[in-house]
Amino acid sequence: MRRIGVVGSGYVGTVVAACLAHVGHEVIGLEVDPEKLGCLARGEVPFFESGLRELVLEGLGSGRLRFTHDPAETMRSSQVVFLCVGTPSGGDGRPDMTAAENAARSLAPHVEDHVFVTKSTVPIGSGQWLQSILEDAAPDPAWASFSVVSNPEFLREGTAVHDFLHPDRVVIGSDDPAALDVVADVYAPIVDQFFPGSNGRRPTLIRTGQATAETIKYAANAFLATKISFINELASICELVGADVTEVATAIGLDHRIGSAFLRAGIGWGGSCFGKDLRALVATVDEYGTDAPLLRAAIEVNERRRSLTVETLRRSLKTIRGRRIAIFGLAFKPGTDDLRDAPAVDIARRLLNAGALVTAYDPIVRNVADLPMLRIVDDPYDAADRADAVLVATEWEEFVGLDLDALRRRMRGGILLDGRNLFDPAAVESAGLTYHGVGRGARRHARAGSHSA
Ligand code: UGA
Repeated sequence: MRRIGVVGSGYVGTVVAACLAHVGHEVIGLEVDPEKLGCLARGEVPFFESGLRELVLEGLGSGRLRFTHDPAETMRSSQVVFLCVGTPSGGDGRPDMTAAENAARSLAPHVEDHVFVTKSTVPIGSGQWLQSILEDAAPDPAWASFSVVSNPEFLREGTAVHDFLHPDRVVIGSDDPAALDVVADVYAPIVDQFFPGSNGRRPTLIRTGQATAETIKYAANAFLATKISFINELASICELVGADVTEVATAIGLDHRIGSAFLRAGIGWGGSCFGKDLRALVATVDEYGTDAPLLRAAIEVNERRRSLTVETLRRSLKTIRGRRIAIFGLAFKPGTDDLRDAPAVDIARRLLNAGALVTAYDPIVRNVADLPMLRIVDDPYDAADRADAVLVATEWEEFVGLDLDALRRRMRGGILLDGRNLFDPAAVESAGLTYHGVGRGARRHARAGSHSA
């Protein structure tokens, strides 16, 4: 058992704190926002993440998890300090490191022989940067002997608790082998899958250098985002040649060198990570006076998907101004209420700017603060009331079970733009709706063939 401090209680920090307490460590979470702190101390998680509330309550109940606003108490109560503060995108693509710097400065006066673990996604080279900030702000650098380890997170929102407790790999990077031993020890229950609810599948522990660990994080997200952009570009080709991208994806995904995950074509990726991390990697490459054309293309293909969605609606409705358009799903993906860089919100904004009347339904989201013109209702059929078109923008399971006949009856038009390829086109069309998917040219082709036969 180790004594652990976790700084920041957003998605990542709260998951890290609750999961480390669950596997047996003694954890103190540092949160400077009094409102958030109050919630957490009562066992309330101020955002939606499956299974997290239960683990926070379990940790508070067992006494292995507590929260404080006090950096001194956090440092006194811990040997290992996980930095989990936000690093949102700054204006120039580089992550904004203000919160990380403020956190480091508040902890530094209390530093002794702590091991600092950067869990936040930080630009490559930040381990060194953090070391210097801590050295400068520590009371007496001569006796403060601390280390910095990079430990990137690979948590998906919605399944973050599962991903933390049952990872494919754990990456720890530092140029100090003793510090790596300490962090490896923190992860021992997870690497050995020795905790209540373990599934016995032991992840690989990767020990490496600081810069390599930092690069692994960016490489993973850049690859996943590029994979989606790849299949979305293929979707455009499928539309041209009359092929079905869902079948193409299934077939190529069966090749184990390619793999089937992250090959779902649609209106593109969003969220707080892919766009931010790709832009940060491009900005890093810029600093070296060189270029990353593949990463730039992945971003561009993704942006183009959003404008293509509006164009598809314009083509089928002829005009956008005054049209009623229903959007199903607002969050950037199912299982979360997170709207950061959500394709649905971006597309809603574009449609509103073009003069459409847009009504949305999302199983969780009830408000989009910066889009007051967007009407949000709590029933999908009400969202579709007198709509000219419905756009399915987030792949929520529950949409698949919608009664398409009832939907059609509520609409005044008949367009269903399936931005996530959730529906069987034949079922949509037999309900009297006109189906548009993403990259599903084969359907139109097949029908055209059967008409002429
Ligand atoms: C992503 C990574 O998957 C995590 O491994 C990583 O830790 C995290 O970023 C992070 O850096 O913190 P997340 O942003 O939660 O996780 O969401 P994903 O499940 O990766 O989905 C991202 C977007 O891609 C969503 O908008 C989703 O709809 C879209 N997507 C995903 C597709 O369009 N097609 C697919 O095949 C898969």
